[in-house]
Amino acid sequence: MGKLQLLIFVVHYKIAIMQKINIGLIGFGTVGTGVVKVLRENAKTIQDRLGAEVVLKRIADKDIARDRGVEVEKSILTADANEIINDPSISIVIELMGGIEPAKTFILKVLNNKKHVVTANKALLSQHGEEIFKTASANNADVGFEASVGGGIPIIKALKEGLVANKINSIYGIINGTANYILSKMTNEGGKFEDVLKKAQEKGYAEADPTYDVEGIDTAHKLAILINLAYGTYIKLGDIYTQGISKITPLDIKFAKEFGYKIKLLAIANEEGGKIEARVHATMIPANHLLAMVDGVYNAIHLKGNAVGSVMFYGRGAGMMPTASAVVADVVDICRNLKKGAAQRVLPLSWTDESIRKVEIKDIENLETPYYLRFSVLDKPGVLSKISGVLGNHNISILSVIQKDRKVGGAVPIVIMTHLAKEKELMAALGEIDKMDVVLDKTVYVRIEEGLGVGD
Ligand code: NDP
Ligand code: HSE
Repeated sequence: MGKLQLLIFVVHYKIAIMQKINIGLIGFGTVGTGVVKVLRENAKTIQDRLGAEVVLKRIADKDIARDRGVEVEKSILTADANEIINDPSISIVIELMGGIEPAKTFILKVLNNKKHVVTANKALLSQHGEEIFKTASANNADVGFEASVGGGIPIIKALKEGLVANKINSIYGIINGTANYILSKMTNEGGKFEDVLKKAQEKGYAEADPTYDVEGIDTAHKLAILINLAYGTYIKLGDIYTQGISKITPLDIKFAKEFGYKIKLLAIANEEGGKIEARVHATMIPANHLLAMVDGVYNAIHLKGNAVGSVMFYGRGAGMMPTASAVVADVVDICRNLKKGAAQRVLPLSWTDESIRKVEIKDIENLETPYYLRFSVLDKPGVLSKISGVLGNHNISILSVIQKDRKVGGAVPIVIMTHLAKEKELMAALGEIDKMDVVLDKTVYVRIEEGLGVGD
């Protein structure tokens, strides 16, 4: 038998005997429990598709006594993650504990032990992705992170593989389930912010620290991951302008409706002339746009590629089972590679190391967009002209004005919709207006997006 034939024989033999692939799970919380359920409930389907059995050999969590609503053999539970990280029989480690440390240290150890990683940890990947991916490449290991953006939506695989032939022109996404759930409930049912947030937490959608959801931080983490995949870079989180939904009131939602808009927390990125725009904020979008119809915990990502045109991905963006679906998909992908003796077939960002570049980020000050402005003012003659005078001085032209209530001597809202205005000018104007003695509260402003990447 020649050398080549021997090699082929060994590879085929390895594939043939690999009937079982052992995996370990660190973090038996909401998503971890979902993973156990999916692996159990869909074991036969997965085995039939993969041609091997995925065996969950060990589960680590700080608390191994708590009832997780799913039965597991006590012997597989451990409070020490190192028992998984250092187990030579485990090929894939799923990290679902969240946070930066010790998750980062654990993942690096797993990779340095030549094992593969699956994680949903967008906070970690958006800040330390470069180190993690470089460690993976140095160890010829794979890192699956499908669950890190869009819950159950296979957006990562789409960007890495399905859209690999495209230059990505723009990304518009609703990518935080909790924030979208809150805004939808406030819009459709008139729910109170705090009550709806509590419900989202009970449903397992929110982050351990829910300010990440409502202040746009989680959306920025996910946008960073999408930008890195779309443009072959490692964007700094601080380069993404980030503003949440905590200042949005039922009144703003009501006014938005009157003007034919809905308010959504949007992640926006696009490339023009080599510069990237990257921003996260509450946005008024036309009520008849597909993204405006994405309600509740659902997420949607609208992408425009230079070959494919517009594509939109839609599905549940958070929660136990949808997220587990994405995690297990990564596990199966890596198992398929293992069966073929392959790793890093698709590079972590789907860009070669040599092609990964630094990109220039557009400053939010240079943004030009229409704005919704809600002023809380004293109801007395001449106030509107004072406000419009300041706006005029900053070259901000008014499209329409609404003042509905009358409360002579009291506070009333005045709503102004502007034509295209420069962010820098708007901020300067609001700085002046908010100092006026007739202005009783900080002015609320919401940027408006009309086109959202649709059309040529
Ligand atoms: P949970 O808080 O429900 O689960 C995390 C679990 O990990 C908890 O049981 C926690 O224990 C445990 N844990 C923490 N530190 C350690 C440690 N050092 N060793 C072992 N176990 C530890 O979080 P989720 O399941 O909601 O989220 C997990 C990850 O998935 C996060 O990165 C999150 O951002 C991400 N994600 C979550 C989604 C969701 O819908 N929930 C959707 C997409 C991604 P304890 O509670 O005692 O701290
Ligand atoms: N807290 C996140 C959300 C979980 O609500 O979208 C999914 O990443």
